[in-house]
Amino acid sequence: MTKVMIVYFSKTGNTAKLAEAIAVGASEAGAEVVVKPVSAAKPTEMLDYDVVIAGSPTYYGHSAGVLRTFFDESVSIHGRLNGKIGGAFATSAYKSGGNETTILDILHAFMIHGMVVKGQHSKDHYGPTSINTPNEPDIKDAKKYGAMLVNLAERLSNV
Ligand SMILES: Cc1cc2nc3c(=O)[nH]c(=O)nc-3n(C[C@H](O)[C@H](O)[C@H](O)COP(=O)(O)O)c2cc1C
Repeated sequence: MTKVMIVYFSKTGNTAKLAEAIAVGASEAGAEVVVKPVSAAKPTEMLDYDVVIAGSPTYYGHSAGVLRTFFDESVSIHGRLNGKIGGAFATSAYKSGGNETTILDILHAFMIHGMVVKGQHSKDHYGPTSINTPNEPDIKDAKKYGAMLVNLAERLSNV
């Protein structure tokens, strides 16, 4: 069974709602899923999962400092996440408020760890987003994203 870890920071709950929706989608696709606020997660825990999906509110165009610290501390396991799948999601206050730069911020870290990242040819190309609280279409897209990464993990495990 594919194991998925979703780690996120959320101060006012918007990003947490996307995290839960991604978890539902991943779980419905047959994965074992753990969802953790970054305050309760250790970077070494990523070693136990096939897929790691990280999310953050946009803070000044980037992921929040606590999530960046989480990735800075992941240097202790550098090289050991190679080949796993990474994904990212973000929320912001404005349409052009930085969701994409926040997602890319997270995906950069995953790529430097040697992880596999996947875009989407339609809808949110980089990963699930919302402007403030996720609405129903945002939740639907986030569920699909969770399922997509589980399906990818299953395909790659057969390569
Ligand atoms: C310190 C700080 C910086 C922020 N910077 C941005 C920003 O650059 N662009 C933006 O659109 N929203 C910005 N916001 C708004 C948050 O990204 C937005 O409200 C987000 O949905 C909050 O997520 P949360 O409810 O999970 O905490 C900022 C909020 C804070 C507190």
